[in-house]
This record gives sequence, structure tokens and C-alpha cells, in this order.
Amino acid sequence: MRNPRPDTTNPRKTILVTGASSGIGRQTALALAEQGHTVIMHGRDPHKTRDVRDWIVARTGNRDVHAHVADLSLMGEVARFAAEIDATYDRLDVLVNNAGGQFGSTRGTTAEGHERTFAINTLAPFLLTNLLLPKLEESPSARVVTVASESYRQAGRPILDDIELERNYSMVRAYGFSKLYVWWLMRRFDAKLKAAGVRNVAVNTVEPGSAATSLQRESLRSTPWMLPLLVLWLPFIRTARYGARTSVLMASSPDVEGVSGEFWGGMRRKRINAKWISDEGERRIWEYCERACAPYLRDTAL
Ligand SMILES: NC(=O)c1ccc[n+]([C@@H]2O[C@H](COP(=O)([O-])OP(=O)(O)OC[C@H]3O[C@@H](n4cnc5c(N)ncnc54)[C@H](OP(=O)(O)O)[C@@H]3O)[C@@H](O)[C@H]2O)c1
Repeated sequence: MRNPRPDTTNPRKTILVTGASSGIGRQTALALAEQGHTVIMHGRDPHKTRDVRDWIVARTGNRDVHAHVADLSLMGEVARFAAEIDATYDRLDVLVNNAGGQFGSTRGTTAEGHERTFAINTLAPFLLTNLLLPKLEESPSARVVTVASESYRQAGRPILDDIELERNYSMVRAYGFSKLYVWWLMRRFDAKLKAAGVRNVAVNTVEPGSAATSLQRESLRSTPWMLPLLVLWLPFIRTARYGARTSVLMASSPDVEGVSGEFWGGMRRKRINAKWISDEGERRIWEYCERACAPYLRDTAL
């Protein structure tokens, strides 16, 4: 979709963007603030997040932009953050699960014991979406947009008996699987909502293409052999603003009203090779995340 209709007729939405303190998330928040929506920006660093909030307000003149802080690698923090959003805002129409991380060649775990990439890229969107769903369901037309990556194709066959890669860690696997799994989870959210007869919450996954952001700052330090590959890849790297386009489209455009359960990139629906889709894999990842997040899930969870 090259030229989505301008959003002038779209009612003003309340939109939460995670990881809005830099890169694609910052540009997503900026574009949505330009469209006049209420934008709830999430970041992990209070000063950086507030500075970006002030920058967006100054650039757009939209003062309805708000900053919140949470470390999404910790599920206890995800739960606290969800409660804060629920208590602070009367409504929530759109959740953009954008925050993400890529780490180095050595496996690291969070204070809660989860592999870091999996915690931020997979578990956090699972828990946050689940906890905010009741609020989203109150909206006449809600959307969940989750930022995955084409890297889902680079990690090889999923290793479902070692989901957090205790025995099989590599940076490429950790990142690629985390994005494959979060996409599977979003397919599952969509299927479960449809099965429950919920028609007013659309759940889609997007990929931004290659964008110049700080995502690889840590992974490149520990995998310098990737630098020559990156140099070869430079002509294909776009700006963060460009990378944000599909997130913005799926978050707010009337052109995609009613679209749900799809994977979009480059402003269009992507055709996915069936070999990447697995009902059994989806079920196992969903159940794994359910167990990992059990202390924080409410009885409203899907
Ligand atoms: N750039 C690409 O080419 C590309 C390609 C495919 C997919 N993606 C995906 O696009 C999304 C945005 O990434 P980006 O490229 O814009 O990278 P980025 O510039 O590093 O932005 C990532 C955002 O997530 C936040 N974040 C990271 N770890 C966090 C944590 N533990 N708790 C809370 N927030 C955390 C960052 O906060 P700070 O500002 O404090 O760092 C930042 O706001 C990610 O999901 C990424 O996987 C990017």
C-alpha cells in the first residue's frame, strides 16, 4: 500500500508505543502524534524518554504525548507497567509492541532467570498484550501491532525443547527465534479472540525492514565478523522514519480497519512460506509463555 489515506477522518485514538525512546519506536510515536492521537510513550530510561517526549511535543504541537518508564525485560515490571497504564488512562485503543533488543554472542539472563532476548522480544509482548486486553476490548475498534523481523527466517529450525537456548545459544538464533515466536503468539492471540467472538480487537505483526537504529549496538561489539556483512548491506538500510511506516499504517490507518491475524511489511501484507507456520509450535510457545508469566496473568487472560 504505497499511499495510505491520510488519517484526517480517523477518530482520535489513545495509542501506547513501547520502546518509543529511540529508533523506529520514536518515529512511530512522532508520526502518530503528528496525526493528532493521544500517544503514550514507553521507554526504559526516564531522562531519555522525557527528552524524546518533549522533542515530539515541540515538533508536532501535540501536547497529548505522555512518557512512562519500565524495564520490559522483567515480567514483574511489565505487570507493574500494565497496571500503571490501566490506572492512568480511561481508554486504550492501540498497543504497539515495538520495544526490542539484540544481544551479544554470550547468553545472558535477566534477574528473573530468562534469556534476555526472549524476555524482551517474546515474553514481554505476550504478557503486556494479555494484561492490557481487557482495556483494549473496551475500545470500539482496538488494535495490537507487534514489531517482529524478517530475521525469523535466519535462525533455522525452532528448537522447541530448548526455547530459552540454554544449550543452543547463538545471537542469531536468540534474535531470530524471539521474533518467530512473538509472531506465533500474535497469530494465537488473533485466533483466540476470534474463537471467543471478540470482533473489535485486531492483532497484527509487522516487520520494518532494515533501518538505521541503535538495535545492533551490543550485538556488533561481540560479533565484529558481522561488520563486513553490514557494510555490504548498507545500501538496503533505510531511515528509522521509513522503518516505522508499516507500524504507523497498522496502528492508525482506516485502510486496514478489520485486518487481523496478518504479517505486514513494506506497507503490504506479506506472503509467508507455510514452512514457518506450525500449530504445534505455536501451542508449545504459548503454553511456555503462560507458565513463565503465570504469577502475573489475571483470570481475564486468554
Ligand atoms: N532496526 C532494524 O533494522 C529492525 C529490523 C527488524 C526489526 N526491528 C525491530 O524493531 C523494534 C525497534 O527496534 P529499533 O531498531 O528501533 O532499535 P532501538 O533503536 O534499539 O530501539 C529499541 C527500543 O526498545 C527499548 N528497549 C530495549 N530494551 C528494553 C528493555 N529492557 N526495557 C524497555 N525498553 C527497552 C529501547 O530503549 P532505549 O532507548 O533505552 O535503548 C528503545 O526504545 C525492535 O522490536 C526490533 O527488534 C528492527
